[in-house]
Amino acid sequence: MLITFEGIDLAGKTTQVQLLAKYLINKGLNVVTLREPGGTEIAEKIREILLKPSNELNPFTEFFLFEAARSDLVTKVIKPLVNKGITVICDRFWDSTIAYQGYGRGLPLDLVEKCNFYASGGIEPQLTFLLDIPLEIMFERARKKTTDRMENETTDYLLRVVNGFRELANKFPNRIIVINGTSSIEEIHKEVIEVVKDKLKV
Ligand code: TMP
Repeated sequence: MLITFEGIDLAGKTTQVQLLAKYLINKGLNVVTLREPGGTEIAEKIREILLKPSNELNPFTEFFLFEAARSDLVTKVIKPLVNKGITVICDRFWDSTIAYQGYGRGLPLDLVEKCNFYASGGIEPQLTFLLDIPLEIMFERARKKTTDRMENETTDYLLRVVNGFRELANKFPNRIIVINGTSSIEEIHKEVIEVVKDKLKV
């Protein structure tokens, strides 16, 4: 089973991935947490290229690098784990590419969807949590840390990304559960657990 967390930068995904993993491990499940881009030696190298602020990447270069990293992670790690019955929780997956490269950069959505499909080799998330925060909160949180290349973006671009995620959630209401990311860490975790209990019976 693959569970994913999505949302704009600084929405709090990483914390929630760890809290859910802890909960599921306590319930006796075998759980592995991963992040995208990353998770293999090659995908981590691609991540460095993608996030280095001084790297100039055109939208297609950026897009294919994300897909390359995904393809490597899926074939080497996610697929073998899922096939063994292990629960994988991934910090971002293909919805991020639709939101950031499709809606954000304006690449054709059908191209992004097709490449997502092939890069994921038949693996798809059963459940996705979208942590939704307004841009002002993202900017407020960003002021407290140093930013990477992807976080140095214009407001218009980021608004398109936020709306892209929301459109995806409207399109796939059974899979994508929207959670208010401005709530406290504990409240968000509680909501996540309720959904997991209801949908996955764990
Ligand atoms: P992270 O900060 O959540 O680790 O994600 C790294 C950055 O990469 C983040 O700004 C979102 C971006 N990203 C995309 O633009 N497209 C993608 O397909 C993925 C997985 C991430």
